[in-house]
Amino acid sequence: MSFTRRTALLGLLAGCAGARPDPALPALDALYPRMPDAPAPGATPRMREICASFGRGINFGNMLDAPAEGEWGLRASDEFIGLVGEGGFTRSVRLPVRWSNHASRDASARIDPAFFARVDEVLDQLLARGCTVMLNMHHYHQLDGDPLDSELRVDDAVLRHRFLAMWGQIAERYAARDGNRLVFEVYNEAHGLQDGPPWNDLMSRAVRLIRRSNPTRGLVVGSSRWNSVDALTQLVLPPDPNLILTVHSYEPFEFTHQGATWVRPVKPTGVDCCGAPQLARMHAVLDKAVSEAARLGYPVFVGEFGAYEAAPMPARVRYARAMREAMEQRGLSWFWWELASGFGVYDPKAHAMRQPLFEALYR
Ligand code: BGC
Repeated sequence: MSFTRRTALLGLLAGCAGARPDPALPALDALYPRMPDAPAPGATPRMREICASFGRGINFGNMLDAPAEGEWGLRASDEFIGLVGEGGFTRSVRLPVRWSNHASRDASARIDPAFFARVDEVLDQLLARGCTVMLNMHHYHQLDGDPLDSELRVDDAVLRHRFLAMWGQIAERYAARDGNRLVFEVYNEAHGLQDGPPWNDLMSRAVRLIRRSNPTRGLVVGSSRWNSVDALTQLVLPPDPNLILTVHSYEPFEFTHQGATWVRPVKPTGVDCCGAPQLARMHAVLDKAVSEAARLGYPVFVGEFGAYEAAPMPARVRYARAMREAMEQRGLSWFWWELASGFGVYDPKAHAMRQPLFEALYR
């Protein structure tokens, strides 16, 4: 992927916020109160059905989660949308969206109408194909305290206001969409500044806000530390029965992310998969996901797993098959990361599935 700065967007959003904190900025509690501090009641049977219905899914990654669609080489094209549900391929799509790059820099985070219309178009095409779609918020680097790559810097004081203001708009806009086939995922891989209590606080406010317009829609929430299973012990769920848990697993990381340029230091290539110790690590993550979800009383699925193209294809196929079998033995739905970029099951140049990978996952 490319991390080139998108200067056009700077022009688009210039002038929306000053550099100084706004003394009139309302407190979060006034605008976006938390859910009551009460125990989470556990999930409704409907949430368990929706989670099971995800089955074998796909991430439409590096499309609408790029700084601007197309900037990482992919668009959510008719070609890609046309693949879902065809030839044994899934109808479950996780749709990562980088809203924060398309919203005003002030606390109101007004989402660019043209971008909203584009998301409508992709979402409605997928829903019209009979898909189940998980629409999320992806990459808000400053919120996590990450380097910004091509994200626009905003006043730190409005970071959380913006997160919630965006969710207010998204939730209202899609409130009328199918109640079982569209779910919202509150945030991808909270980490860094959001680890632990800050994420619990923000998530609780987001759930309460989304519930104003979507009283019973399925909401996917994960732990901080990049949706790691180990951080599920720190996750405090709000008292809402319509939640579904997500975890991400890229174990063994030195295999799945070998040669990935966005991981520093870059991991050496030439790592194979999957010997017994590696399998044990893969299984341990899944076992923990299952036991933590049972403790919390909510269903869980694996929202991301995958192996980058720098690993040899036969090993990626072994990894994909081993993960699929291990997840399915535990009754876990899953979403491969991702369709057509560096981890892709589909080759966009050949306009064809990478058959061995495709078969290991979806056949
Ligand atoms: C990130 C991607 C990254 C992938 C694997 C995802 O959550 O959004 O940018 O390629 O994880 O590292």
